[in-house]
Amino acid sequence: MSSILIRGGHLIDPASNLDARRDLLLSAGRVAAVDAPGKLDALAAREHAEILNAKGLIVAPGLVDIHVHLREPGQSHKETIATGTAAAAAGGFTSVCAMPNTTPVNDSAETTRWMQSPDRGAVVRVFPIAAATRGSLGEAITEYGALKAAGAVAVSDDGKPILHDAIMHQSLAAAARAGLPVIQHAEDTRQTQGATMNAGAMAFRLGLRGMPAEAESGIVERDIQLLAGLQDSRAHLHIAHLSTAKALEAVRRANRNGLRVTCEVAPHHFALTEEAVGQYDSHARMNPPLRVQSDRAALIQGLLDGSVDAIATDHAPHCVHEKEQEFERTPNGVLGLETALGLALQVLHQKHSLPLSRVIALLSTQPAQLLHLTGRGSLAVGSFADVVLFDATATWTYCAAASKSKSRNTPFDGWTLPGKVHTTLSEGHVVYEGNS
Ligand code: DOR
Ligand code: ZN
Repeated sequence: MSSILIRGGHLIDPASNLDARRDLLLSAGRVAAVDAPGKLDALAAREHAEILNAKGLIVAPGLVDIHVHLREPGQSHKETIATGTAAAAAGGFTSVCAMPNTTPVNDSAETTRWMQSPDRGAVVRVFPIAAATRGSLGEAITEYGALKAAGAVAVSDDGKPILHDAIMHQSLAAAARAGLPVIQHAEDTRQTQGATMNAGAMAFRLGLRGMPAEAESGIVERDIQLLAGLQDSRAHLHIAHLSTAKALEAVRRANRNGLRVTCEVAPHHFALTEEAVGQYDSHARMNPPLRVQSDRAALIQGLLDGSVDAIATDHAPHCVHEKEQEFERTPNGVLGLETALGLALQVLHQKHSLPLSRVIALLSTQPAQLLHLTGRGSLAVGSFADVVLFDATATWTYCAAASKSKSRNTPFDGWTLPGKVHTTLSEGHVVYEGNS
């Protein structure tokens, strides 16, 4: 396998506590050496390495998205593993964790393996998240040991909550034994029937039924109680797409009490509020819904102060004809992979002065650690050669029509963002090159 020398860039690797000018030598799909500018030239020449000029660019570990919907098997009219991972590469992601709400639901070792087969044409690494319950029906837990052996990195019924106390308790206990996190879609569906947006002024104005913040925080609090009752230090509860100040407070409290509770926030929740629904704009419809400014501010604060563990996109492709229906009929979900880095840089780095290294930690190092993706989210010698090169200041305009995704459902079409991705490498292979 060939070698590549990434030369003249500014390397940011939170895993190695590195934020400096460094050259990086990739060899046989791994990081072979990291050294001061020019120091690797002789070694690279001996290996006949290809030179990648990174002058003026940030060189960071490939981004890791622990929450995407790739729609395969079964809904390949919305997305395929090939198109979803192409969108990931364009957004600087080199690892994506795929939710199980496919058709059929991924609740088996067989489907878990099928998703990882080279035949799917993935250009970045896909880590399946298997269903926590059979068919994600919330009635009987799946076989966590077998799913883990087949490559699952967590269990979740995302799209719906694990609602029953007894089933959630069983899930947390079995997952702890198997060494898997349980990812909860925290929504008390008994409080959200028929609701299509946040419960608040905007829903009142539009005449729509709303989802209260308590429907999220109530499940988070219930899950934390179950976790505390387990008294098993291996048990790990992870809250998907956390969207409210109240739920974040509950996570903080649990952490203060020494419980292993982590959470992720999606870019749309820190970039937008319910105001974006405007005149029934279906591109602003997702679950959990866009919330109010005080929730958005609390999420940003949590991202800044470290209470939020990761940024995850909840990339959820849907067809144009589905999103062109009336607001109440249209499915939940927005694309996320191509705009996550730009939104994180714009909102967190530029507007709120979060250092670049912290942005990278939230988009790569920490999510990789959360789901134990060994050798990912790091540029330490021996790690996978998963790398993103981007210009932190150059702006670009997102054009949904040109998306690598099969779908077009985004509220960010036409937005000008910082952080143009220059090159993405997955295990030493160039999988995306932006035209600069
Ligand atoms: O917005 C969402 N889209 N939220 C979910 O929980 C599911 C997802 C999807 O699969 O489309
Ligand atoms: Zn999701």
